[in-house]
Amino acid sequence: MTTRILGTGSALPKTTWTNDDLSAFIDTSDEWIRTRTGIIRRQIAAREESAASLGAEAGRKAIENSGTALEEIEMILAATCSDEGYFPSAACRIQAELGVRGAVCMDINAACSGFLFALHTAHAYVQSGIYQKILVIGTETMSRVIDWKDRSTCVLFGDGAGACVVGKDEKGILGFSQYSDGSRGSVLTGTAATLATPGDGAHPAGALFMDGQAVFRFAVKTVPECIQDTLEKTGKNIHEIDLFVLHQANSRIIHSVAKRLGAPEEKFPINLNEHGNTSAASIPILLDELNREGRLERGSLIMLAGFGAGLTWGTALLEW
Ligand code: ACO
Repeated sequence: MTTRILGTGSALPKTTWTNDDLSAFIDTSDEWIRTRTGIIRRQIAAREESAASLGAEAGRKAIENSGTALEEIEMILAATCSDEGYFPSAACRIQAELGVRGAVCMDINAACSGFLFALHTAHAYVQSGIYQKILVIGTETMSRVIDWKDRSTCVLFGDGAGACVVGKDEKGILGFSQYSDGSRGSVLTGTAATLATPGDGAHPAGALFMDGQAVFRFAVKTVPECIQDTLEKTGKNIHEIDLFVLHQANSRIIHSVAKRLGAPEEKFPINLNEHGNTSAASIPILLDELNREGRLERGSLIMLAGFGAGLTWGTALLEW
């Protein structure tokens, strides 16, 4: 027995900003953003929207899609690195919005790898028999942690949430690989405004800093290695994989990973052109879109791959 994704859901803010919308207030262009990243537009949360409200909407849809009753959900894990405060957790606020009274709730922060790490945590709980049905959510309001004056990062991100319900089944997760390297953490940081001393340090307080090229090199090297790791652990080969659902950061990273693996680009679906980089939400949003388009066939092999701040990275192989 393993753990299977029983249903998926996603939610996006109502407001969409195109690249041209951004070039109205920062020195950038649609052409630069498209050619360097593949991004065309992204959704940005309005004042009344939050990581919790988007996460709750995605969670509600995943619960419906899985055919699970609310009372069956025993745990809510929310992967987020851009929630509006330290506590209560996004997971607890999602619980309150959904009215899932009996669930145990907590957040997991592994930045853009957060959904994968939360999925692995849920798998461990399910396999140990502690909980039967768990709601796993990736939800982000990256627009609230980026420095809107830094054109090298603010054009990259978007807001949104994706979710899935997991439970025990004969088919599902076949294998995982997860890694962290805190010694390289300084290439991608999000500093809390309340912890920064005014006027101190090179990075703006309360904002995101990224050495884009270092993160790019890290991603194109570690993602293929980590995929190979999981293939070895599960005894599968690259040609057996039907779809590679990668963290949606940059289309050039995805194309480079496909090339390094010798796998056809058609097996690497992309939606970052529509949503930007939604950090921990990007993998579950894409999974939900593929699921609702009928592109995830029962029995097909799907490789998930995430990478992000920490540094953190990981892969999971699913038999859908
Ligand atoms: N518009 C116009 N020009 C820009 C912009 C912009 N938005 N941003 C930077 N530039 C300029 C720079 O100033 C620079 O100009 P110069 O040559 O005159 O100095 C030039 O464009 C090139 O800048 P680079 O940083 O070298 O551009 P690069 O080709 O490396 O692309 C990018 C930058 C898109 C950020 C790329 O490095 C990348 O995708 N990195 C990976 C990011 C990523 O994957 N993050 C995921 C993790 S996020 C998380 O975990 C929270």
